Amino acid sequence: MKRTKITDNITYVEPDSMANFTTCAGIIVQSKKKVMIDMNMGSKEISGLLEKEKPDAAIITHYHLDHSIWTRHVNTCSDAVVFIPEAEEPYLTSLDFVIEHTAGPFGMSEKWKDFVVKRLGYEPLNEYQCYNEQTTLKDIAPEIVLVRTPGHSPSHTSFYFPDEKILFSGDMGLDHFGPWYGWTDCNIKQIVESILRLDGMDIKLILTSHGGALKKRIQSSWVNCIHQIQQREEKIIKKLETGISKQKIIQQGVFYSDKKKVKEPMRSFLNMWDTAMYNHHESLINEGGLVKYFPQIMGMS
Ligand SMILES: [Fe+2]
Repeated sequence: MKRTKITDNITYVEPDSMANFTTCAGIIVQSKKKVMIDMNMGSKEISGLLEKEKPDAAIITHYHLDHSIWTRHVNTCSDAVVFIPEAEEPYLTSLDFVIEHTAGPFGMSEKWKDFVVKRLGYEPLNEYQCYNEQTTLKDIAPEIVLVRTPGHSPSHTSFYFPDEKILFSGDMGLDHFGPWYGWTDCNIKQIVESILRLDGMDIKLILTSHGGALKKRIQSSWVNCIHQIQQREEKIIKKLETGISKQKIIQQGVFYSDKKKVKEPMRSFLNMWDTAMYNHHESLINEGGLVKYFPQIMGMS
């Protein structure tokens, strides 16, 4: 893993590999207490890291497994309290729930369950505390402000350090691929609202979960996120107008192109996620499209 000292108190930690969607980058904050956020470094690294760092709190931005699996090691390797977003509690505590509300609607439960349990090591989380947007971490890290940024997941949360104007943005889509909404519980309108909320904040540095650190052109990066969603919508509309079927559009890729080259079971998962993303666009197009809800994005550049 790669550690980058951002300030005296904040260290950005990136995993060696992000292949197969099993890890993400996170931060270690030395405040009143030591806090780790989204420290999903992979099963080989996490135990040693927890034992060495001895955090007091382990926080996740959202339930997605590439951000949350490490919390299963926290209670055995440290004395840290695990904090999870309140509205996503059932995803983290029940295998049946998480499968039913992710791959379930796509008839992919068995394949996905197999991957989630055997490959990622999902176990129901037992010891934890819930946080919500009213939560202040006053006894642990009083300087951190929780920012509600739902859409990518039902209660995805970002973490803001107002003194340094630093944001840990989790999965807001500030990476090469752009915003992701590949489960039924994702919501494009909420993603855009969350992006606009963050765009209105005074931020000098963004630490992301999958796209590294962002120092320059922060505002245009937010705009780019929204444009990526808009471009996907336009592409779908154009294809539908030329008579291309839903199935073909998904096959060609809403988010993932070149799915044919990918091995199973990942190919089926990519297809499932692209189907979900198509469905979200389809619903929004039927409601009048992205610009109907966010006319201001027309003038954003
Ligand atoms: Fe995610």
